[in-house]
Amino acid sequence: MNANSPSIAPAQPMHFEDLILEQGDLISKKLHLLSMQQFPPNAKKLLRQFSLSEVAQFLGVSQSTLKKLHLEGKGPLPQTSSSGRRSYSAEQMAELRQYLDQHGRSEARNYVPYRRPGEKLQVIAVVNFKGGSGKTTTAAHLAQYMALTGHRVLAVDLDPQASLSSLHGFQPELDMSPSLYEALRYDDQRRSISEIIQATNFPGLDIVPANLELQEYEYDTPLAMSNKSSNDGKTFFTRISRALGEVDDRYDVVVIDCPPQLGYLTITALTAATSVLITIHPQMLDVMSMGQFLLMLGGILKPIRDAGAAVNLEWYRYLITRYEPTDGPQAQMVGFMQTLFHQFVLKNQMLKSTAISDAGITKQTLYEVDKSQMTRSTYERAMDSLNAVNAEIAELVHASWGRKVLNGPA
Ligand SMILES: Nc1ncnc2c1ncn2[C@@H]1O[C@H](COP(=O)(O)OP(=O)(O)OP(=O)(O)O)[C@@H](O)[C@H]1O
Ligand SMILES: [Mg+2]
Repeated sequence: MNANSPSIAPAQPMHFEDLILEQGDLISKKLHLLSMQQFPPNAKKLLRQFSLSEVAQFLGVSQSTLKKLHLEGKGPLPQTSSSGRRSYSAEQMAELRQYLDQHGRSEARNYVPYRRPGEKLQVIAVVNFKGGSGKTTTAAHLAQYMALTGHRVLAVDLDPQASLSSLHGFQPELDMSPSLYEALRYDDQRRSISEIIQATNFPGLDIVPANLELQEYEYDTPLAMSNKSSNDGKTFFTRISRALGEVDDRYDVVVIDCPPQLGYLTITALTAATSVLITIHPQMLDVMSMGQFLLMLGGILKPIRDAGAAVNLEWYRYLITRYEPTDGPQAQMVGFMQTLFHQFVLKNQMLKSTAISDAGITKQTLYEVDKSQMTRSTYERAMDSLNAVNAEIAELVHASWGRKVLNGPA
C-alpha cells in the first residue's frame, strides 16, 4: 500500500463496534462541517411568490376575479413585475381567502375551509415498510398542498431519519430540535406536544420535527409493557392520539410520515390515524413486499383491537408513486392493483419526474422550487400529477366532514 494513501484496514484487528464508532464519528463531524457551510443554523427557509394562475387555482376562483380585485384596490396588493405579471405571497393568499369570505357574494362556499363544529380532526398516516416507496415525498407535498388550500395543518415526522424535517429546513444534527419522542416518553421528562411544534415557511403548516431520539420509543415501549406497576406500556398505542388531543382545536389536518418499519412508532401512528395512505411503487417486488406488510400489520392490529383500541378509519387508499405509464410492466401492475382493490386505489397516480427528485436534492418540494429553474413541460407535468393526487385526497378529507364542495383547485 502507498504510504500516503489513507489506511483502509486497521493494522491490528479491531472490534467491529470500535470500528463503526470511529467511522460514525468521522462522518458525522465531516458532514456537520459541510452542513454548516451549506445550511448555517437558524438559516430560515423562505417561500417564493405564487403566480396569479397558481393563486386562482389554490383559491378556486377565476384569474379575472383576482385581477378585478386588484384593479379596484381591494384585498392584498400583489407584486407586479416589469412585464405586468402579478404574484402573491402565501400569506397574501390567506388574506385573500379571508377577504373573499367577508366580501364574496357566494353563500354556497367558504374560502377559509377550517373545520366547523362536529367535524373531526383528520389524521392521515402515510405508511409502508418498503423503503423509498415515496412516503416522505407524499407526506410533504400533501401537507403543503393542504396548507396552500387554506387548511391548518400539522406535519409529524415520525422517521428517526428526519427526511420530512430536512425538507422543511430542520437539521436534527444542527438544530437540536426536540422530536415527538419528548411527548411520547414514559418517564417524568415527558413534554406537551405544544412545546415541540415548530412553524414552517408555509403559512398554515406547522411541523413536529424528527431526530434519532425517536428510536428510543422502540426500546422503551417493550420495557414499559413489562412494567407491572403501570399500565402506560400496555396502552402504548394511545400515546400519539393523546398528544394530538392536546392541540386538536388548532388544526384541521395532521399528516404523519411514518418510518419504513413496522415498529411501535408506526403502530402508534396507525391507532391515532383517521385515515391511511399506503404508498406503493408499482413493481413486482414492491407489491409483494406490500402484501407482506398488510399481512403483518393485520396480525399486529388484531390483538390491539382486543386490547380496546380499534383502528377505525374514515378511509384508506393505495397511492401509486413514481409511476412511469410508458413502462409496460408498471402499467400492468397498476391495472392488477386496480382490479384487486377497486376504489381503494387512488384514481390519480404520482408520476415519476426529475422535477420532484431534482427539487429534493436541494431540500425543496415541487411547491417551493422556482419554475424558471426547470424545463417548463417537465415541471408542469409533475405539478399536474401532484395537484391531481392531492385534490383527490383533499376531497376524501372533505367528504369525511360531510362536505360536498371542495375549496381548492378542481
Ligand atoms: N414522483 C417522484 N418522481 C421522482 N422521484 C421521486 C418521486 N417520489 C419520490 N422520489 C424520490 O425517491 C426517493 C425516495 O422517496 P421518499 O424519500 O419519499 O421515500 P420514502 O418512502 O419516504 O423513503 P424511506 O422509506 O427511506 O423513508 C427520494 O430521493 C425522492 O426524491
Ligand atoms: Mg421517508
